[in-house]
Amino acid sequence: MIDIRTAHTADLDAATLTAARALLDVVFAGDMSDHDWEHSLGGVHALVWDGHELVGHASVVQRRLLHGGRALRAGYVEGVGVRADRRRRGHGAAMMEALERVVRGAYELGALGATDEAAEFYEGRGWKSWKGPTSALTPTGMMRTEDEDGSVYVLPVALSLDVSGELTCDWRDGDLW
Ligand SMILES: CC(C)(COP(=O)(O)OP(=O)(O)OC[C@H]1O[C@@H](n2cnc3c(N)ncnc32)[C@H](O)[C@@H]1OP(=O)(O)O)[C@@H](O)C(=O)NCCC(=O)NCCS
Repeated sequence: MIDIRTAHTADLDAATLTAARALLDVVFAGDMSDHDWEHSLGGVHALVWDGHELVGHASVVQRRLLHGGRALRAGYVEGVGVRADRRRRGHGAAMMEALERVVRGAYELGALGATDEAAEFYEGRGWKSWKGPTSALTPTGMMRTEDEDGSVYVLPVALSLDVSGELTCDWRDGDLW
């Protein structure tokens, strides 16, 4: 039986967090670093359970994104993955629906860095590809993140966003977007 649950990191036990990390390690074929996992923590997780097996994970955490002279409160989606043998059954959509509710209720916009494979998935849900230049605030100042241009997606909530403008993320270890 499929069960979708949402919970804050603080309310997940160690076994569930270990299962989520293990799932993402498999989904991203060893390309999931400790930093990537750490980026998924500290917010709300959406988990898809098939009985006792975890088959899907995604989470949303708070970040600040600079745009149009403001530091916007963003719900940043991380660690989105469905086990390969369970894809195209609506689990990804169900997780995103749960997290988009959090984004709409608690943040000024949603944002995420998409894999090429998932671009259509997000576009189909109304996420917009950021067309303008991306950058990051680093300890030594602003840095362009041109390699990420085109892979950042946003979900506008109450704000009108100029997706051809500049978008700058806050600093963190590991991948910046
Ligand atoms: C992206 C991912 C989470 C989607 O999960 P999923 O459970 O298969 O998604 P859903 O079944 O809810 O798909 C909903 C809709 O999104 C679209 N979609 C999903 N996967 C797609 C794909 N690979 N290519 C094109 N469209 C896709 C389709 O419109 C689909 O509806 P349909 O099946 O009726 O055509 C899953 O493919 C995955 O884990 N990929 C590997 C990890 C990854 O890239 N994660 C994203 C990180 S940003």
